[in-house]
Amino acid sequence: MRYRHVSVPRLGGAEVLRLSSDELPAPAVGQVRVRVLAAGVSYGDILLRAGVIPGGPKRPFTPGYDLVGVVDQVGPGTRAPEPGTRVVALVRSGGYAEYALVAANRLVPLPEGVDPVEASALSLNYFIAQQMLHRVAEVRQGSTVLVHGASGGVGTAFLELAALAGVTVYGTCSAARADQVRALGGRPIDRDAEDFRRVVRGLPGGAVDAVFDPIGGPHFLRSYQAVRRGGVMVGFGQNAALRGNQRDLLTGAQGFLGGIVLPKLIPDGKRTLFYNAWSLEKSHPAAYQQDLATVLELLQKGLVKPRVGRTMPLEEAADAHRAMETAAITGKIVLVPAAA
Ligand SMILES: NC(=O)c1ccc[n+]([C@@H]2O[C@H](COP(=O)([O-])OP(=O)(O)OC[C@H]3O[C@@H](n4cnc5c(N)ncnc54)[C@H](OP(=O)(O)O)[C@@H]3O)[C@@H](O)[C@H]2O)c1
Repeated sequence: MRYRHVSVPRLGGAEVLRLSSDELPAPAVGQVRVRVLAAGVSYGDILLRAGVIPGGPKRPFTPGYDLVGVVDQVGPGTRAPEPGTRVVALVRSGGYAEYALVAANRLVPLPEGVDPVEASALSLNYFIAQQMLHRVAEVRQGSTVLVHGASGGVGTAFLELAALAGVTVYGTCSAARADQVRALGGRPIDRDAEDFRRVVRGLPGGAVDAVFDPIGGPHFLRSYQAVRRGGVMVGFGQNAALRGNQRDLLTGAQGFLGGIVLPKLIPDGKRTLFYNAWSLEKSHPAAYQQDLATVLELLQKGLVKPRVGRTMPLEEAADAHRAMETAAITGKIVLVPAAA
C-alpha cells in the first residue's frame, strides 16, 4: 500500500514543498504507525524548510511538528496504545502525511470527545507555553510577564494559560490585533508605536518577572532589559532571522550571542535561555507526557480554546506556508490528510 506525504527536498521557499507517494513502511521495534487525522502548520516548519534552525532533519524530510491520529500498527515487542486508539504526538517532523512512524514513548492519548483538529491547534502551542510559564519561568499567581507576538498562536496560548494561573500578561502585537489580546485578558502593547521597555519601566518595580520572545535578533537584548533581578528572558523563536524566504544567519547569531549568551556574563541575577519543545527532555524526562496531557485535559474541560484558522488538505501545504508567512490567516492552520 502506498501513502502520501509532503516532503522538503531542499532548503528554500514554500515552492520547494512536494507531495510525494511512497510504499507504506512497517513500524520498527519501539515505533508505532499512526494514521494522521490532523497536523498543525507551525512557524517552526517554515524555519526548518528555510534552514534557519540549525541541526534540522536530514533532507528530504516531511515537515510537521505535531500530529493527531489513530494507532494503525504497533512495532514488534513494543508497548504502545492498541490499534484504533486516538493519540497526539509532538514529533518535530513527519506530521504532513497520511501515515507517520512515531516513537511509542511520544504518544499521548487524545482525551475522549476532543476534536482532532482542535487538539492539533493546541498541542505544540499550548505545550510550549505551559512549559515556559510553569517549568522555565516558574510563574505564580500575581506574577507579571511580557509576551511578544501575543496575538499569534503561541501568544494566545500564553494568554489563556497565564489567565488560568492568575498571571498578568503584557503582550506586544500589531494595533489591529490589540482587541484580540485584550479579549483574552492581556494588556496589549502596540509593537510599532510603543517601546515595550518604556511601558514596562512604568510598571511597579519597573520590570517584569519574565519575558517570552519569539522575535530574536537584537530584540532578545531589549527583552532582557525589561526583566527584573531574579527574572528570566526566554527566547523561543527567531522570526527576525528569516527575511522574506531568506535566512539571515547574522541576525540569528546576533540574537543568540547578544541576547542570550553575553547577558549570562553580567552578574545581575537575571537568567537568559533559549527554549524549544525538546529543551526539558533530559532534565525533566516525565515532563513531555505530563505537560501534553495537562493541556489536552484543559481543552477537554473547555478551559482553553485554541483558534483554528483553516483546515487544508496535504496538497495545499505550500499555500498553508505562504498564508502563515504573510499572516493571511488568523488562527492555526491544520492540515487534514485525505485518508483521515
Ligand atoms: N521553540 C519552540 O519549540 C517553538 C515551537 C512553536 C513555535 N515557536 C515559535 O513561536 C513563534 C510564534 O509562532 P506562532 O505559531 O504563534 O506564529 P503566529 O501564529 O504566526 O504568530 C506570530 C505573531 O507574531 C507577531 N509578530 C510578528 N512580528 C512581530 C514583531 N516584530 N513584534 C511583535 N510581534 C510580532 C504577529 O502578530 P502581530 O501581527 O499582531 O504583531 C503574529 O501574529 C515563532 O517564532 C515560532 O518559531 C517556537
